[in-house]
Amino acid sequence: MTPEQKQGIGILDSGVGGLSVLRHIKALLPHEYLIYFADQAHVPYGPRPATEIHQFSAEITRFLINQGSKLIVVACNTASAAALTYLRTNFPDTPFVGMEPAVKPGAVYSQKGKIGILATEGTFGSLRYANLLARYAQGVISFEDPCQGLVEQIEAGHLSGSKTERILHKAIDPMLASGIDTLILGCTHYPFVLSLISQVAGPDVAIIDPAPAVARQVERLLKQRDLLGSASVPGRVIAYTTGNPDKLTVLSERLLGYSFPILKSYWDKTGHLQVFLMGS
Ligand code: DGL
Repeated sequence: MTPEQKQGIGILDSGVGGLSVLRHIKALLPHEYLIYFADQAHVPYGPRPATEIHQFSAEITRFLINQGSKLIVVACNTASAAALTYLRTNFPDTPFVGMEPAVKPGAVYSQKGKIGILATEGTFGSLRYANLLARYAQGVISFEDPCQGLVEQIEAGHLSGSKTERILHKAIDPMLASGIDTLILGCTHYPFVLSLISQVAGPDVAIIDPAPAVARQVERLLKQRDLLGSASVPGRVIAYTTGNPDKLTVLSERLLGYSFPILKSYWDKTGHLQVFLMGS
């Protein structure tokens, strides 16, 4: 595929989380062609070993480039922690935008010097995260919680209800008792339960979702490299899931208020991705 044929922005996540980033990219860059990949056969990524996530992310990246991606957004903190450095080294012709918990803006924003961070155990256990804290969390106290089970609740469409509330109270109540005034959403799934998070955290806690900044970074990189899509071409979204496309259509409509074509993809026996074609 020639560079001219690569028109898309590839966006990947373990599931629907990356849609919380896609919506900001679509709003900022309405003329772009967005290619979304949800690896729902493997969601959640959080408890999986980094080597496995690394392998999945590399294959999804290869797939998205073959589908015509000119830039890849790793719209998953866990995958960015496990694989972003590797991806940048091994796909040198493709620009990448990754995600990481917004510790730097959180530390600047917090008046009390106490921040809460909600992310997956994979993110918390990574070297990338340790380096992030060492660089930017000097002088602030950080409190972490992996919100066990929250990604699964969101994937199942349980955006409210007693179990989702319980998980959030268990995570946030001790942070409130410790006096945080800033809460960082370090997993792209979590913005979909923002109203519940705000309710649990209360009006005195600022909540930081890095997705708008990520969308601006995508725009900056595309401009810098002269890769912005033509304003005369209408934007579109296409998605692939290794899960159930019908279920993802229903959930996307709920989460975003719009839908788009979703194709079934699957992992073959050799660990490569294939697209399920009708009748095959
Ligand atoms: N949405 C992802 C993240 O930002 C991954 C969640 C998961 O699959 O555990 O970390």
